[in-house]
Amino acid sequence: MNNDAFRIPVKLNLNPYEVVIGGSGLKGIGKELRLAGIKKGIKVLVVSNADVAEPYGDLCLESLRESGYQPTLLIIEAGEDQKTQASVALIHDAAYAAKLERGSLMIALGGGVVGDMTGFAAATWLRGVAVVQLPTTLLAMVDAAIGGKTGVNHPGGKNLIGAFHQPKLVLIDPSTLNTLPEREFKAGMAEVIKYGVIGDPELFELLENTSELNKPSELEPDLLKKILVRSAAAKSKVVSSDEREGGLRAILNYGHTFGHVVETLCGYGTWLHGEAVAIGMVAIGELAVIRQSWSRDDANRQKSLIAKAGLPTTWPELNPEAVLKTLQGDKKVRDGKVRFVMPTGIGKVEINNDISKAEIQNCISRIS
Ligand code: NAD
Ligand code: GLY
Repeated sequence: MNNDAFRIPVKLNLNPYEVVIGGSGLKGIGKELRLAGIKKGIKVLVVSNADVAEPYGDLCLESLRESGYQPTLLIIEAGEDQKTQASVALIHDAAYAAKLERGSLMIALGGGVVGDMTGFAAATWLRGVAVVQLPTTLLAMVDAAIGGKTGVNHPGGKNLIGAFHQPKLVLIDPSTLNTLPEREFKAGMAEVIKYGVIGDPELFELLENTSELNKPSELEPDLLKKILVRSAAAKSKVVSSDEREGGLRAILNYGHTFGHVVETLCGYGTWLHGEAVAIGMVAIGELAVIRQSWSRDDANRQKSLIAKAGLPTTWPELNPEAVLKTLQGDKKVRDGKVRFVMPTGIGKVEINNDISKAEIQNCISRIS
């Protein structure tokens, strides 16, 4: 692969858009907005947090100004514990102060927390203004920025408040990963592994055959780009065929049902989202072994890859009753039944909603 931008279409009937990877990166955001048909002259509220705004804020603002936009930068606190309605209110206050109009734009420059909150603020300001996602974590590049799920947490659970609001453009600049803390990079790798298990056995093997997965600097740039492209393409394909999670899109929640339990019960900040998803993938893998829907060999391959990526593989100490209660509160519960995305092979999953409490408890005790 070369330096040309890689363009992945998200083929939605109403609001199709592109995920652009590479090219001029953040320096080219102004031009990319023009290419995406966003009129020059409009007001743009760029939302970011200090870690990201410091290295990349000016670059974006300059590019926006050069292309004829009127940007304002808002810096908010980020971190999972800040993913609240109070933070969204700050974005709304800034939108009011900057006099954003219906034709204005919000840009999320940051990880999944900034992306989810800015997307939600855009969905709800003036009943909906446009949003563009500039993801700067691996997790946001391959998952959170694509697909239009936006929202914040509620004390009762992750992402319980939210809206679907598709971006007009997702622009991924892989070079921003160079400043990302290693732990965050590893957490993003959990979502990459997820794409391998749910539908891309070649990606899974590519990761298995890569000796060092822990840091972007250790990965060949072409390999990193390949991982980004395959993952973003996997996400875009699922979203294109099921925008509102009527069916297929649920497979993207692989590992997340148990993962959300870990995040909720351990407290936001103990485990990163991707780390919790890693634990959740090991848990559902074990449940699938118990149910004999996939082999011990595949479960071991998954666990080894997760461990190689420097991610956790054991269940934390949690009250079993609290686990069951939190599972019941999951967004994906239908008719009182928890829906699990369960692997049937490397590259294949099915949705299962007839898992008993005893099976869940057995599975958790095996991986604790
Ligand atoms: P994050 O947004 O909390 O970012 C992680 C940390 O990295 C932050 O401290 C941030 O300041 C820092 N950071 C970000 N980019 C950086 C860079 N390039 N250089 C230096 N520091 C940088 O974490 P995340 O893993 O990106 O996102 C997790 C969130 O994403 C969760 O809230 C999760 O629910 C959400 N999510 C949403 C979707 C979706 O479809 N909307 C999908 C997956 C996850
Ligand atoms: N991360 C799950 C989804 O976007 O549907």
